[in-house]
Amino acid sequence: MPQSVELKLNGTMIELPVIEGTEHEMALDISKLRAKTKFITLDPGYVNTGSCKSAITFIDGDKGILRYRGIPIEQLAESSTFVEVAYLLIHGELPRPKQLTGFSQRLTWASMIHEDMKTFFSGYPAGAHPMAILSSMMGSLSAYYSGDDDYKNPKQMDLVIARAIAKIRTIAAFSFNKSRGLPFVYPEADLPYCANLLNMFFHKPTRPYHIDPEAVRLMNQLLILHADHEQNCSTSTVRLVGSSEANLYAAISAGICALWGRLHGGANQAVIEMLQRIHKDGGGVQKYIDMAKDKNSDFRLMGFGHRVYKNFDPRATIIKKACRRYLEHVGADDDPLLNIAIKLEDAALADDYFAERKLYPNVDFYSGIIYRAMKIPTNMFTVMFAIGRTPGWIAHWKEMIEAPEFRIGRPRQIYTGPVERDYVPISER
Ligand code: ACO
Repeated sequence: MPQSVELKLNGTMIELPVIEGTEHEMALDISKLRAKTKFITLDPGYVNTGSCKSAITFIDGDKGILRYRGIPIEQLAESSTFVEVAYLLIHGELPRPKQLTGFSQRLTWASMIHEDMKTFFSGYPAGAHPMAILSSMMGSLSAYYSGDDDYKNPKQMDLVIARAIAKIRTIAAFSFNKSRGLPFVYPEADLPYCANLLNMFFHKPTRPYHIDPEAVRLMNQLLILHADHEQNCSTSTVRLVGSSEANLYAAISAGICALWGRLHGGANQAVIEMLQRIHKDGGGVQKYIDMAKDKNSDFRLMGFGHRVYKNFDPRATIIKKACRRYLEHVGADDDPLLNIAIKLEDAALADDYFAERKLYPNVDFYSGIIYRAMKIPTNMFTVMFAIGRTPGWIAHWKEMIEAPEFRIGRPRQIYTGPVERDYVPISER
């Protein structure tokens, strides 16, 4: 592979260095392009644009490969825990036992939110979407922990990381409790992260929650599968907001907003709504396959397709298996939505439209069915995704602010508006 390529522009030859990643992904370094030629590149949707170098997550979308810090997602989902994976993503290596204990302890100590923040929950209307509550509450943490921004101090860095990962779970659980008119359930000091999450969601003073190890294992798996996915929409948002040196809570709050949309994390809610619609309509899937193919319709098969995966999303393969196991475990394997999902997947995979465009089920296609079986309501699905994605957002933010080439993110544009013209007074318009 050449060290650089030559580009001829307006008669001038310039050299663009070639950058090669550890997995042999190739890029042209255009960082001096504008300075030397006055040209910029234009790439709507950033389909061909690398925004950074990163050592966190590797995806090969053609082969269906996903690895965190080099470790295949299949191994992590099978053998690890969410807390261990969070440490791996953020610090680059699997923790040794003492490091894992220290990290887990910090998560426990940091898991309360300021008591005054509890009153915020009463201010939201009854039907408020939990993602609206989550994003504003996460942003509000910066009002309570405003001294958290000495990120060059390793202890301070450890603390702010623990606070973000621990408090997002507490905020999610409190907003879930509030939406059902139930008392807040505080985190327990002796429960690990995922067991604590389930307990905070489902424990009632009158009906204690008995922790189901199968549900805990599944929750670990789901959060691991969502924990990072390199430069996706929400992670790029976290990086961009963080690049202005806004605090971590503000950057995460922005990431939550980016995740909310149905083309990104909001797809898990949209999938269930789509399956419910098909169910109500008699359960036949062909009409919906045809609608998804019809260019005059704005209907898309939610949970299908991915910007990067042009093959099976490896997370979807793991989730599909986990989904069947859990539904059998709780005796819900006759869930009509599961049957519709399977029929829809089979019909889409057999259809040329989807085959030609390499559209396969993504991570969100089956996750909603599992959350439903866990008795988590549909509007909480994207919140679950946000809890899982928080370590990934943090890992990218940390990598960015510690990089020697750190600078504010600021894309350029090609202006297509009117050329210079005079202001016209209102009386003459
Ligand atoms: N249903 C029907 N057609 C689709 C779908 C779909 N779900 N996804 C893509 N296509 C078609 C497009 O219409 C387009 O067809 P054309 O070439 O004839 O115009 C072609 O496939 C390429 O699609 P793009 O929209 O250009 O692909 P892009 O990479 O921009 O979008 C995205 C990827 C947003 C995920 C898209 O596939 C989609 O909308 N999927 C449904 C929403 C979803 O499941 N999102 C979750 C993604 S995973 C995550 O964020 C966690």
